[in-house]
Amino acid sequence: MTRRRISAVVAVLATLAIVVPLTWMWWSSRMPDAYNVMDMGYADYGGGPRPAEGHGSHGAGATTDAGVSVEDLRGEPEGAPDVRVELVAAEGTVSLPSGRTVDGFTVNGTSPGPVVEATAGDLVEVRFRNESVADGATLHWHGVDVPNGEDGVAGVTQDAVMPGEEFVYRFVAEDPGTYWYHSHQVSHEQVVKGLFGALVVQPRDGVDQDVEAVAVTHTFGDRTLNGLEGDVPVVAEPGDTVRLRVVNTDNALVELWADAPYRVLAIDGFDLTGPTPVEDQALTLTAGARADLEVTVPDTGAVRVQVGGATSLVVGPDGVDVPPAPEQPESDLDLLTYGTPAGLPFDVTDPDRRFDYAIGRRPGFVNGRPGLWWSINGRLFPDVPMFVVEEGDVAVFRIENDSGESHPMHLHGHHAVVLSRNGEASTGSPWWVDSLEVASGDEYEIAFVADNPGVWMDHCHNLPHAKEGLVAHLMYAGVTTPYEIGPDTGNTPE
Ligand code: C2O
Ligand code: CU
Repeated sequence: MTRRRISAVVAVLATLAIVVPLTWMWWSSRMPDAYNVMDMGYADYGGGPRPAEGHGSHGAGATTDAGVSVEDLRGEPEGAPDVRVELVAAEGTVSLPSGRTVDGFTVNGTSPGPVVEATAGDLVEVRFRNESVADGATLHWHGVDVPNGEDGVAGVTQDAVMPGEEFVYRFVAEDPGTYWYHSHQVSHEQVVKGLFGALVVQPRDGVDQDVEAVAVTHTFGDRTLNGLEGDVPVVAEPGDTVRLRVVNTDNALVELWADAPYRVLAIDGFDLTGPTPVEDQALTLTAGARADLEVTVPDTGAVRVQVGGATSLVVGPDGVDVPPAPEQPESDLDLLTYGTPAGLPFDVTDPDRRFDYAIGRRPGFVNGRPGLWWSINGRLFPDVPMFVVEEGDVAVFRIENDSGESHPMHLHGHHAVVLSRNGEASTGSPWWVDSLEVASGDEYEIAFVADNPGVWMDHCHNLPHAKEGLVAHLMYAGVTTPYEIGPDTGNTPE
């Protein structure tokens, strides 16, 4: 061969050396038109025993023997409900309570949809009807540890409810607290554009405060509170204690602060023990998270609670003058040290399984598209871990974020307690979360008991990030789902 010919061959080989693996990566990243989430990625047993064969075990990629189907993990099928609600989703023009109109989605004609109210122990029945949401829709009960079949994730726990169809959710609202519901079908559009509302579960003997109010914050172009803009009144008399249930339905965190001391009574629906008055500190409310704050109305005037810079709750008598906006404090309250310690209901010192959920970012292909994608334990969606537990396990997750951006991580179906951040142990109240802000550079350890069998999403609640592949699943050995995701199925949970 002449020299020229050799260099031509070398050039071709060099090109192939690049193109062939890239083509392979592109090809293998493409998603089938219908797939079961159980066939995704690889099983991660967290260092615990690999569940016995014939016990419905499945490695990811091996949806084998019959276990329990999520279809059979429904809530109470029998009995008259204590709370019965009809929620109807529609697509089109949303007239916000502020008077502004936007394009999007409504529940019962408004956004936010109605507050669903229940008392702990109530059997809740929600008849969900899709009037006109073209892509289909579902309702997910964010933060409520419902039976898996009621979790409302299209393609995982049910099929998307198409226009004209309905789905009846039935579950016992066991834990009092502040929660919310939202569609889990094309959620990066449907939640962002209005398909959500709050759910409040009252404690059996009521709350201690004189007055309570729900404040659902959402950015429709501008920040809104219950669909209103600017300063939103909460009527209460001098001396009243007021419980504000703030729900963050946005993709990004929001800071809360006030012009008077406030106490943080609960996070993500779970009470904190020994909450002391907070002054000159803001509270970070993660995307998807809720905080119950307590303020006391002064003898004259009102308390002003900022929800971000643009909206506030003005808590005081009807028609009271709006106090000037307090400046945002420079420091944030640290929930790792807030409140007083209390025992945990399970032993976290010797967990049955320890999982890593390390979030990074790297170039590659997701569903055939090249880009810089979120990675989980170094892998790109859908080649991500399927975290496998057995019922009764105590599981510890180490969530680590080196991706350059913050991620509000949300585990379905369970509440986890924060053990530590960056190696520093929690010394405050037990801090239970379903939504946890994991800033870039941070590492958290959280623990939970596997007490709710199913196939559960564990994803970033900055919903565009979820769509970009920051989604994994927690699954119980022996549980299978018959539902599928992909263009041929009509199910697109993100
Ligand atoms: Cu608020 Cu997976 O959702
Ligand atoms: Cu994220």
